[in-house]
Amino acid sequence: MTDTPTDLAIHARGLAKRFGPVQAVSRIDLDLAPGQALGLLGTNGAGKSTTLSLLMGLRAPDTGQALIFGHPAGSPAARRLSGATPQATDFPDQITPREILTYAAARYGTAPDISALIRDFGLNDLIDRRIAGFSGGQMRRVALALAFVGQPRLVFLDEPTSGLDSAAQDRFRIQARAYVAQGGALVLTSHHWDEIEAICDTIALIDRGEIVLSGRIDTIRAQTRITRLAFDLPPGRMPPPWLLATPDGARWQAETTDSDTTLRRMVTEGLPFANLTLHPLDLKDLIDRLQHKDSRP
Ligand SMILES: Nc1ncnc2c1ncn2[C@@H]1O[C@H](COP(=O)(O)OP(=O)(O)OP(=O)(O)O)[C@@H](O)[C@H]1O
Ligand SMILES: [Mg+2]
Repeated sequence: MTDTPTDLAIHARGLAKRFGPVQAVSRIDLDLAPGQALGLLGTNGAGKSTTLSLLMGLRAPDTGQALIFGHPAGSPAARRLSGATPQATDFPDQITPREILTYAAARYGTAPDISALIRDFGLNDLIDRRIAGFSGGQMRRVALALAFVGQPRLVFLDEPTSGLDSAAQDRFRIQARAYVAQGGALVLTSHHWDEIEAICDTIALIDRGEIVLSGRIDTIRAQTRITRLAFDLPPGRMPPPWLLATPDGARWQAETTDSDTTLRRMVTEGLPFANLTLHPLDLKDLIDRLQHKDSRP
């Protein structure tokens, strides 16, 4: 490959991986710059974890190539620059978080400074306890901290917050944003769309092993400017047909690409609506629309 930008955190072209009869991923192209956060979305079995494992160099692709800051994925140089938290966490029972983090830090050849990690990931009370008996969420926090050991310039986070309580999820969002704001590159998979929206600026949607939609979230939003209205009407009163409103429990719901004009018309026509709320479509709905090319007014 000529002209490979070594300043890109990830530069992947044509990645494909098959497990026996299952074509887990194919034709995966990805670029990620420092200071960017990419959210990988997709249903169970879509190929997110497989994609991450190829980018991390844990598996070799059947075809294609992935470069991490210009180094082949999985090479010592690529590994030194990146950190990861896997989807499943399985530490030996007798080990403590301090030992795990210290051992991992040594891998990077840096003096192990784990105090910031202990603080950031709320590990104070856990750091010297044996892992045996940790709850799922406690284990998860250790695994998350592990990704950030050694000040990596790129982190791979596979469903990092599954099993975390909401306070820990909130803390993680703040830390992830701070990491990216300081120039870190981040790849995140999650089934929590709001988490992807809170952390990532770009997304790639994987469907049956292929990227079927990708781009900046703000560009996707700009392409599909839909606002959802919800309002009450007096019993027996129907909304005007032009609004294409549908019942939503006791309320009515409608969508518009031009909320100013729609609202003006509702007022001009004297529609006796009450408790009106306006919400932009969330990322999940937007992507559903783009995928199904469903273009309602
Ligand atoms: N080691 C393996 N051996 C056989 N098949 C595998 C292996 N790893 C993944 N697969 C298959 O490859 C496909 C993609 O799996 P992958 O784990 O990448 O999905 P995912 O998008 O991460 O799903 P989830 O949201 O459930 O984590 C699935 O059909 C899965 O069964
Ligand atoms: Mg997975």
